[in-house]
Amino acid sequence: MYRELGSKRLRSGETITLAVVEAPDAEFDSCILTLLAHKGGAWDHHMREALSGRADALETRWYLAFMGAQPVANAMVVERHGVGILGHVFTQEAHRQKGICSAVLHELMTDFQARRGLSLLLGTGYESVAYRIYESFGFRSIREGFMGWYATSRADFEMRWFAAGEASVSAARWEHWPLVAALASFPERGGLRSSAWGIRDIANLEGPYCHFMARRAEPGYAACMATTQTGAVVACATCVPFRIGESDRAWKDTWLVDAFAHPLHQYKLAEVLGSLPLPPGKAIALAPDTDDARRAALIEAGFEREGVLAGMLESDGIPAAVAVYGRYVPSAAIV
Ligand SMILES: CC(C)(COP(=O)(O)OP(=O)(O)OC[C@H]1O[C@@H](n2cnc3c(N)ncnc32)[C@H](O)[C@@H]1OP(=O)(O)O)[C@@H](O)C(=O)NCCC(=O)NCCS
Repeated sequence: MYRELGSKRLRSGETITLAVVEAPDAEFDSCILTLLAHKGGAWDHHMREALSGRADALETRWYLAFMGAQPVANAMVVERHGVGILGHVFTQEAHRQKGICSAVLHELMTDFQARRGLSLLLGTGYESVAYRIYESFGFRSIREGFMGWYATSRADFEMRWFAAGEASVSAARWEHWPLVAALASFPERGGLRSSAWGIRDIANLEGPYCHFMARRAEPGYAACMATTQTGAVVACATCVPFRIGESDRAWKDTWLVDAFAHPLHQYKLAEVLGSLPLPPGKAIALAPDTDDARRAALIEAGFEREGVLAGMLESDGIPAAVAVYGRYVPSAAIV
């Protein structure tokens, strides 16, 4: 759905039309995919799914600047329940430094606030040109180039959004993308949040979750989310084929399992882990040896402690161990 937001005369004398396209949309799909063709891979996969109405309840909006009929700049928001990720900020090279990105972001932020958006996350180069632009719109560094914007404050958002309460568990969907990103944007104890996604503490899940969703139909990929009644994802468990290093070749019938939760919702860890549809083979999980809640949840989900790697982490400046857990899942034929 296309909605015009206004027009602006640039300092170059040219005029741009500012508009938003909300997924699904069959009319502007090639215009958006062509403008953002450089993104490629999983990003392209998400946009195609969203434009064709296959991204479940995830809201995807492209804020665009047009010169005549030609799109020249974009900023995209993926969002659920007022919690979003801002990405794909791009102005065509020939039209840079004319004020177009600022004009697009002005419309985006005005629109986001008009629909009572709560928070936006983004990742960029620390102190880059883009970083300064985002800063001028109220984004602040969470850690280096990982930035957040909050309608009230970061502390107020965390307190209200992750308030304790009932949560239900479901399989991962596109709509969980900004929600699990919000979860990972706040610290957790332990220092090893997800081995598969390569994250220890606070992290920007914009990339890891999008890439996970693009592969989720492949064997061995699964994730479960615990969601509160207000829509917050408060716990997450994932399973991916086990790899060492960058190699694309996975170990046969071996899976890497991770689980993390907001500190107020640690009791949901066992349920998200237990709900993961593990394929036959050997499932491996790593947990900080100081993280009692995660260790207990792994045991409850049928894992056994198989060893300990000393001094792998640092907790408050003190070397901390990582416990190794394993669970053998028999094939259906054996059961
Ligand atoms: C970053 C990018 C989106 C900026 O788009 P743009 O349309 O040229 O930006 P604007 O003209 O609206 O400029 C906004 C502000 O940034 C400043 N700026 C933009 N490019 C600049 C540059 N190369 N050097 C110094 N300042 C720059 C402008 O002077 C302006 O500052 P002001 O508000 O104080 O006048 C564009 O350079 C781009 O597409 N880069 C490649 C993709 C990218 O890096 N995206 C961001 C990834 S997170």
